[in-house]
Amino acid sequence: MKAAREKAAEKERSVSLEKMIDEVAHEMRNPLTSIGGFTRKIYRRLPQGDPNREYIKMIIEDVARLENMIRQLIELKTMGVSHPEPSDINNIINDTVKSFKKELNDNDIEVKFELMDKAPVILLDSNRVITAIANLIKNAVEASDKPPKLINISTRTRDGNIEIVVSDTGKGIPEDKIKYIFDPLFTSKIYGPGLGLTFVKRIIQEHKGTISVESESGKGAAFTIRLPLKSPGVISDSLRVF
Ligand SMILES: Nc1ncnc2c1ncn2[C@@H]1O[C@H](COP(=O)(O)OP(=O)(O)OP(=O)(O)O)[C@@H](O)[C@H]1O
Ligand SMILES: [Mg+2]
Repeated sequence: MKAAREKAAEKERSVSLEKMIDEVAHEMRNPLTSIGGFTRKIYRRLPQGDPNREYIKMIIEDVARLENMIRQLIELKTMGVSHPEPSDINNIINDTVKSFKKELNDNDIEVKFELMDKAPVILLDSNRVITAIANLIKNAVEASDKPPKLINISTRTRDGNIEIVVSDTGKGIPEDKIKYIFDPLFTSKIYGPGLGLTFVKRIIQEHKGTISVESESGKGAAFTIRLPLKSPGVISDSLRVF
């Protein structure tokens, strides 16, 4: 009973939060476009060597960051699963990790895989799932501030789901913050903006899955994604495309 009430209150909180953020995003879009446009015009007119060029350039960069954030907020509102296709989660993970090769090398981070043999093929919007896993890896990289810098990625089937666990040995999440991390614009970073996990949660929900987190401050964090094998649907072996 209490759990149901808490769940309803939580849902209400997240709906009104999203509504407010949506309104703010729309209010900010037009003024930002003119600030950005006029500032770029001024910049082009300033002669080389003008001391104001440096300040104008800073404004242009900050406005670009805000514009990017607004674009993401609007995208968040409008996106849905658009291209579900038979997918192998292990391939998705391998492709995603490859795109982090440079960042992992530069930061001396080791990635360990524990992927199941022969993952069942399920219908996924693979580009979206890549975005979700990429955001988890990006966060793990950003949290890995001192050795041992290790990211572990595992997949398995359990209780009718495919489970993907991305864990790290980074700074972890303080207990009092953990319930806010999936909220839009919640960030502990200077340049946030705090939308990564909001996207992850949305993408996983669109696939009828769930995401949960466990963390101990100072020791690391582990995110578990569960995607149902039945719905969106297992593709029988005869239909395997891999
Ligand atoms: N692996 C992790 N280890 C420690 N803290 C984490 C981890 N993942 C997320 N967090 C915490 O949750 C917050 C929200 O994460 P989220 O990805 O939504 O936003 P962000 O990383 O701050 O910014 P963005 O993803 O938009 O660039 C982070 O600022 C950080 O405090
Ligand atoms: Mg992030």
